[in-house]
Amino acid sequence: KKNTLIAPSVLAADFANLERDIKMINTSEADWFHIDIMDGVFVPNISFGMPVLEAIKKHATKTIDVHLMIVDPDRYISTFKKLGADVLTVHLEATTHLHRTLQAIKAEGMKAGVALNPHTNVDLLEDVINDIDLVCIMSVNPGFGGQSFIENTYDKIRKLKALINKKGASTIIEIDGGVTNKNAAQLVEAGADVLVAGSYVFGAADPIATVADLKKITSL
Ligand code: DX5
Ligand code: ZN
Repeated sequence: KKNTLIAPSVLAADFANLERDIKMINTSEADWFHIDIMDGVFVPNISFGMPVLEAIKKHATKTIDVHLMIVDPDRYISTFKKLGADVLTVHLEATTHLHRTLQAIKAEGMKAGVALNPHTNVDLLEDVINDIDLVCIMSVNPGFGGQSFIENTYDKIRKLKALINKKGASTIIEIDGGVTNKNAAQLVEAGADVLVAGSYVFGAADPIATVADLKKITSL
């Protein structure tokens, strides 16, 4: 049986009740906290930064998965290590020397992730896939929660999975954006290992039950 990891995106939490929402995810069956950092340059939105992540980290008892939507992410690799990131993901489109960036993330003792915008072909990772711990396939355009899922994602997952197998890599596949109980099982069937869910979890009447349901329907 496959243990698909569920990563609620804190972007959709109630920031006026952040401690309550973090503790709620701690008690749920969720595996990771997904943390969206936006700079207003790489994406047309600003989310939150270091002091807020520091506050989250005070309460969070699960893996911290940081998704950097910022230009030139090399500038902040050691900062996010100090803030408690376990997985640090940069965008391919925001990085000039991806190979160097990945080595720098791993040298800090974090898992290294690469995120791809919806228009970015997975084949661009062919020469570096063995250096990547996680690929985050964006299933919406990054910048906002609550957008609708892009259907082409399934094809991208299958292509990426084939590339990973061909290269004998141990890279895991994360899907970010528009994940619900309607597409979760199909995403895992296509090859997804981690599902990020923001508005679907925090917008639910019962987020804990929603996480439990996602865990259940993705244990294929
Ligand atoms: C989008 C972020 C996502 C977002 C997902 O830029 O990277 O992580 O929070 O939110 P939902 O699940 O609502 O699409
Ligand atoms: Zn994200």
